[in-house]
Parts: sequence; C-alpha cells; structure tokens
Amino acid sequence: MKNVIKKCLFPAAGYGTRFLPATKAMPKEMLPVLTKPLIQYGVEEAISAGLDTMAIVTGRGKRAIEDHFDISYELEHQIKGSAKEHYLTEIRAVIDRCTFSYTRQIEMKGLGHAILTGETLIGEEPFAVILADDLCYSEGPSVLAQMKKVYEKYNCCVVAIEEIPKEHTNRYGVIAGHLVDSSDDTYRVETMVEKPEPQDAPSNLAIIGRYILTPDIFDVIRETKPGKGGEIQITDALLQMAKQGKVIAYKFKGKRFDCGSVEGFVEATNHFYTLN
Ligand code: UTP
Repeated sequence: MKNVIKKCLFPAAGYGTRFLPATKAMPKEMLPVLTKPLIQYGVEEAISAGLDTMAIVTGRGKRAIEDHFDISYELEHQIKGSAKEHYLTEIRAVIDRCTFSYTRQIEMKGLGHAILTGETLIGEEPFAVILADDLCYSEGPSVLAQMKKVYEKYNCCVVAIEEIPKEHTNRYGVIAGHLVDSSDDTYRVETMVEKPEPQDAPSNLAIIGRYILTPDIFDVIRETKPGKGGEIQITDALLQMAKQGKVIAYKFKGKRFDCGSVEGFVEATNHFYTLN
C-alpha cells in the first residue's frame, strides 16, 4: 500500500436541506463565505496539506462545482488586462496546482455510501476526506496538515474531533477512547456512536468533517448495514476499524464553523470578514 497521501475526497452529494431554498438549484458546497465558495476553502486546505488530487463525489444538480474548477474562457477574456483580473487569481492558482475528478452518487444513502462511491477515484491508497460544509480556520498549519502529521506517526485512520456542549451530541459522531499522547492531543478510539442522545453519548468529543482513511475502509463500508436514519454511516464503519485499534482521534488546533447550518454559516462569514 502506498503511504503518501495525495488524494482528497469531497463527498458533496447531499441535498443541503437546511439551506433551502438557496440549495434548491445550487449545491450547498457553492455557498460563498465572503466571495469564495465553501468547497474552494476545502480544496485550498487540501493543497496546504500537500495534496494535489481532488476527488469529488457529486450528485444531481451539482454541476456548478465542476464549472467552478474549470477555466471560464469568456470571463477570462473579458477581464484580461483590466483592474478586475485579480479576482480570479486565487481560483486560477487552485486549478493550476491540482487535478479534479468526479463521480456521481446516484442515490443519497449516507456519508459512508458517498465515501464508498469515491473508491473508483481513490483506489488502493490512504486518502483524506473533507466535508466542505465544515469550514476550518487555523492560524498555524491547516487542520488537514495537522492531521497528516498524526497519520504519519500512527499510520492508521485519523478523525478530527472537538469538544462540544453535551446537549449537541445528537448532531455528530461521538467517540470515546484513551489518551495516547497528551503532547499531540491524540486518542486511541475505543467506541464511536452516530448522533447519540446526550444521555447515551460516550463523551462530548465529536467528529468533525475531516478524516484520513486507509483504503481497507472500503471493504468495511461494503459490509456496513444502514444505521442511524437508514443511512450507511461512516461512523459505523470506523467503529469496526476502531475495534481493531486502527482509529486515532485528534483534537485539532483551530476553529471549525458548521456552515451546513445557518447559524454556523453566519458565524463563519463574520469571522472571515473581520480577518480581511
Ligand atoms: P449532511 O448530514 O450535512 O447532509 O451531510 P446534507 O444533505 O448535505 O445537508 P442537510 O442535513 O440536508 O442540510 C454531511 C456531508 O456528507 C455528504 C454531504 O454532501 C455533506 O458534505 N453526503 C451526505 C453525501 O455526499 N451523500 C449522502 O448520501 C449524504
């Protein structure tokens, strides 16, 4: 198995119902925080971690994502040499530095199923997963760059976690484990549960939308039965890996905004606006 992580999978097939009607004809991943779509932040984070191959799982009504990571000749021609040209500098840099490939999830059967759909783009190598609606900000190395370091140390699946208020556990995958190294905030995961009610949650450590996965996860997902909400959950597949000691949870440094919710999206917008 190759050990260097070059590929990043973006499951982006979800309906984004919490953002209707905005997401009726537009992918949630294209919602902009200031002038940049969420998925571009995600791709830039992957690039910052040294990844150069972006694999995107899309669905119906998501073609704007493909168009975004392509040249728009007409637009480029119109603004070439004008004072507006700089508006395209960042996205051009992204397009120049990496490749993009796409596959479609035909039926939305859950995040685990979306990741399995991406197998054809990933193959037999470890890979990162970014859920673009979780927008991460860090003053130092990006969250994915931090996780890559953890992966290089432990050579197994890595999930990013943060402490959440106990009453919010039913929005997340929640883990329990033992601290393996307090200097780098890593836990060996012993159990994990998808969206438990607060009284059933094993802790208040929630998984956010950043993962590093080894390719043996695909076979495990194939064996995973639908769980919470009738969906094939990545949490359930990872639990099987955790039982073999193959999952590390890492408490990342930085801030995460849940841009899949209106509240988190507004918070992110304010945060990035004040940074500017
Ligand atoms: P969410 O739980 O946020 O679902 O999915 P959603 O459909 O995007 O949004 P709401 O809850 O209806 O508002 C978490 C991530 O998993 C992807 C989504 O695109 C999102 O990035 N996903 C989820 C898929 O790609 N396919 C699925 O079948 C489910």
